[in-house]
Amino acid sequence: MTLLEAAVGARENAYAPYSGYRVGAAVETEDGQIFAGCNVENISYGLTICAERAAITAMVHGGGKKLVAVTVVTQDGGTPCGMCRQTLAEFASDRGVTITLATLAETKMSTTLAELFPNSFVSAEVLRTASDPSGVESE
Ligand code: THU
Repeated sequence: MTLLEAAVGARENAYAPYSGYRVGAAVETEDGQIFAGCNVENISYGLTICAERAAITAMVHGGGKKLVAVTVVTQDGGTPCGMCRQTLAEFASDRGVTITLATLAETKMSTTLAELFPNSFVSAEVLRTASDPSGVESE
């Protein structure tokens, strides 16, 4: 199964009764596994989960560590929201990860994480603290 097929399949299960905007996303891991997700809306709108983050959640649950490619399928080739870009950055193997934005008919855009999400948040201080499992700062 290709990334596109996985994203198209996931989109079929989208739960989008409020917006009507169905999204399917699929990520490929470094070892070639594919995980997919769809958007899941809620009557309390802010609780909505985007397809990209659903796919990444499936990847982590399935033991995947890093993603190397992402495909998102929508009705118009829409780009990932800011929250999803930050989440993609968290699990991207590198900044060159390819992101394909497609409809059922065609690829609308093929880009990279670096292009879609430049100057993303990176903090040496946060990383230093996170590397200490006790959470206690050593200063
Ligand atoms: N949506 C996604 O699934 N991914 C995005 O990156 C942008 C938006 C969903 C959320 C909501 O269910 C619908 O698209 C309209 O915003």
